[in-house]
Amino acid sequence: MSLMEGLLLQAPSSTVTLLGAGLFLLVLYLFSSGSSSEPQGKEPPGPRPLPLLGNLFQLDLKRLYHTLCKMSKEYGSVFTVHIGPRKVVVLAGYKTVKEALVNHAEEFGERGAFPLPKELSKGHGIVFANGDSWKEMRRFALTNLRDFGMGKKGSEEKIIEEIRYLIDVFEENKGKAFDTTESMHYAISNIICSIVYGSRFEYSDPRFRRSVERVRESIQLGGTRSLQLYNMFPWLGSLMKSKSVVAKNDYDIKRDIHDLVTELKKTLNPQMCRCFIDSFLVRKQTLEESGHMTSHYHDRNLIQSVFNLFLAGTDTTATTMRWGLLLMAKYPKIQDRVQEEISRVIGSRQPLVEDRKNLPYTDAVIHEIQRVANIAPMAVLHATSRDITFQGYFIKKGTYVIPLLASVLMDESEWETPHAFNPAHFLNEKGQFVKRDAFMPFSAGRRVCLGESLARMELFLFFTSLLQHFRFSPPPGATEDDLDLTPVVGGTLSPLPHQLCAVTRV
Ligand code: HEM
Repeated sequence: MSLMEGLLLQAPSSTVTLLGAGLFLLVLYLFSSGSSSEPQGKEPPGPRPLPLLGNLFQLDLKRLYHTLCKMSKEYGSVFTVHIGPRKVVVLAGYKTVKEALVNHAEEFGERGAFPLPKELSKGHGIVFANGDSWKEMRRFALTNLRDFGMGKKGSEEKIIEEIRYLIDVFEENKGKAFDTTESMHYAISNIICSIVYGSRFEYSDPRFRRSVERVRESIQLGGTRSLQLYNMFPWLGSLMKSKSVVAKNDYDIKRDIHDLVTELKKTLNPQMCRCFIDSFLVRKQTLEESGHMTSHYHDRNLIQSVFNLFLAGTDTTATTMRWGLLLMAKYPKIQDRVQEEISRVIGSRQPLVEDRKNLPYTDAVIHEIQRVANIAPMAVLHATSRDITFQGYFIKKGTYVIPLLASVLMDESEWETPHAFNPAHFLNEKGQFVKRDAFMPFSAGRRVCLGESLARMELFLFFTSLLQHFRFSPPPGATEDDLDLTPVVGGTLSPLPHQLCAVTRV
């Protein structure tokens, strides 16, 4: 019995309430579908929806991306599903996703938002914003990430400093099996902290630990069935415990960010910006002094943008790194070749970004880790900014769109062995690194990941430094075959809880 069916079969009084609410919504649904304007062409095909419930019973809410990949085999690369009462168009396969997000970047470049993210972000910040505010916040974030982080020597130094702390923590385990989750999330979160706040935190700092934990918990809950149900039927609100946990985490994280902003304000020096927040505050002050009282530079946009950078920038990179170490323990021969290349090209000195071009095999392995890890299988929900006829189908303005990145990263017409971990996907016959068009873990187009350059730098430096220092293997008594690669579906796809041994290399 599904959770939805279970809810409908609860105590009589709640059944009456639910049925009443259901009937009311059914009338609304019939009324709204009757009143909407006639489509101006053929709509994308898809499974027949039930009123209100849509295709609920055909969708595996625990692995939605998986069901959608299967449906694309039946309905083609552009199809419609009804997620509850909401009509959503799904784009599948490299050619279609690229054509939509890149060739029709404007039309497919809006952000859609289900009730919970909409309720919590209130249209501020970057990830769930649209229009001029989004444009301004995205531009500001890109410039400032560049100035205080990515693409500069400064960020390389920050990352290398953090790697040293992480190596110390790994070494403390003295080769015994341990779970890499906590320390990896602390290290990656600290990179964002040093860009946003201008300082890192000790891994033992309770406020920092709590904050990283909250981010992780919310991302994990993001993929649960109960949150998906809430997003379809928000009137179920109080019955969904995970909704309250995510809302409380959202409140607590933003309160912590607010406190840190207040501290930074006390020592703000417009002549010497230390971090992203300083830079935002100075811009706000300058605009206010010149009489722009209605600009986008207000506290809600600041707090929500910082919040977005933490949520989008921590779990994604840390989870990819954890997949990377797990895959190295699972495939020791590939680990051998990475370590041989690092020893030959770099020796024992600290790896640097400029070493990448001389490490083609390692670079191919990192790309293949990202492809197989597939951590954002449905990207983040998009929406159409205007009516469009796409591949012969009419899609109305404001329709929600899922770019199915999983179907691009595993596209059978693009990859030689789509379902196997095979670094040769990124190597030519001479062993040189080759880029692949269908490598799209950061998505593409107008909404492409804003932290891509930073993430790529982090992944390269963390991966090469850790592989230079440690040999990764399964816990004692386990073999490579025991390492399970089944993903846990949350807001991102992460590895099942596991332990690894990190033995210092001599
Ligand atoms: C391995 C690491 C990462 C992966 C795989 C990844 C992937 C993605 C994906 C798939 C999207 C959605 C794109 C779309 O809607 O089409 C996204 C958006 C975003 N990412 Fe990343 N990301 C990573 C790291 C980061 C980092 C380090 C940051 C911050 C510094 C970041 C900040 C963002 C932001 C702010 C957005 C929203 C962009 C917008 O709506 O305009 N990401 N990312």
